[in-house]
Amino acid sequence: MTITTCVFDAYGTLFDVSAAARTAAQEDQFPKLAERWAEVANHWRLKQLQYTWLRAVAGAHTDFWEVTQNGLDWALEATGLDGDPALRQRLLDLYWELQAYAEVPAMLRALKEAGLQTAILSNGSPAMLDGAVQSAGIGDILDDVLSVESVGIFKPAASVYKLVEDRFNCSKSEVFFVSSNGWDAGCATGYGFHTAWVNRAAEPVDRLPWTPAHILTDLTPIPDLAREQ
Ligand code: 2OP
Repeated sequence: MTITTCVFDAYGTLFDVSAAARTAAQEDQFPKLAERWAEVANHWRLKQLQYTWLRAVAGAHTDFWEVTQNGLDWALEATGLDGDPALRQRLLDLYWELQAYAEVPAMLRALKEAGLQTAILSNGSPAMLDGAVQSAGIGDILDDVLSVESVGIFKPAASVYKLVEDRFNCSKSEVFFVSSNGWDAGCATGYGFHTAWVNRAAEPVDRLPWTPAHILTDLTPIPDLAREQ
């Protein structure tokens, strides 16, 4: 079946999640962050994701902005950088308007020029995603932005991936799903989508029942791959 719809995870895939800590570390008012920003970014991301999985299993949903703040508070305490409200607020403000990776606009435009539908499918809350999409200036090259808040549970719940078929009235085999999270791309493979994992950090493949169909280093090959499926 031909691919008609390309769907992207947001954080880490289209938007650079480490940019918040990296940017703040370059600002004079946060000297203690300068030497530990990468550690903060890694703890922040891992805890944010852990909380989404734990809350999904425990049936204790809250929105992604809450778990993003929870993950940051854990990361700041773990690195001894808690207790600075200005730092916490600056990191959250930067997270709200994360930079898009350099290849994103041209890649999305190429998909639109090829007649494909494009969308985000993300754990992010609608307000978070709107902030990121608007600040990255890519709203005009996305047909929609789908949030897990529509179903009240985080990825990789099947009901999240089903949002794509419901929104675009398409079959699973028409969907090309792309994520920087190996677990997300793997589980979407199991769900029935064509998949690509953008392995920007050159990590090992996750040991899951399913493996992403394509493993890439950035999003540049996506338009050609979408044509070849
Ligand atoms: C997302 O945007 C968590 O990166 C993941 O849904």
